[in-house]
Amino acid sequence: MMDKKLVFATNNKHKLEEIRAILSQSYPIVSLDEIGCSEDIPETAETLEGNALLKAQYIKTHYGYDCFADDTGLEVKALNNAPGVYSARYAGESKDSKANMRKILRELEKQSDRSARFRTAIALILGGKEYLFEGIVEGKLIEEARGNAGFGYDPVFVPEGYTETFAEMGADIKNTISHRAKAVEKLKAFLDENRLD
Ligand code: IMP
Repeated sequence: MMDKKLVFATNNKHKLEEIRAILSQSYPIVSLDEIGCSEDIPETAETLEGNALLKAQYIKTHYGYDCFADDTGLEVKALNNAPGVYSARYAGESKDSKANMRKILRELEKQSDRSARFRTAIALILGGKEYLFEGIVEGKLIEEARGNAGFGYDPVFVPEGYTETFAEMGADIKNTISHRAKAVEKLKAFLDENRLD
């Protein structure tokens, strides 16, 4: 019988909460802390999919667990999809969200097209095989940060069909419409169809 426990290759508390809210009824999710992994897993690929795979492969190789990993980027149309895979360190290695937002708003000052999207890639390693899932939420970047919930670029991103930013609407709504939610829904559907126990 398959152990239903799945390692999620992250220690980001926001992401763990988001993903547990979606998946935990069917699958107990275990974080890196909980398997005693405190290394910095290399994220040196040039695509979101590549980084997600690197992280999942690292856990499978070093710890032996079935696992999944995600990588997310903000893709801004007028900036040729930048910052993309470099979203966390857009304004420098300190990975400072406020500095990242300031930089993106400055870059967009002269642009009329403010459309952007969050894109998440999830890599799953299950029973020795690798699978990829993608989730996208389209929207636009506003001119000044609004709201306190969430993390990263949430205060400057308004998803299509809404007037509030991700940081204003709060987790309950964000978790039903976000890039990560969509990718995790695909992961969940796959796991439900392919459970081995
Ligand atoms: P990660 O690869 O999922 O850690 O995301 C990389 C970077 O993208 C983060 O450091 C954030 O700046 C940004 N990001 C990822 N997901 C979100 C989100 O849900 N809201 C806002 N920013 C996000």
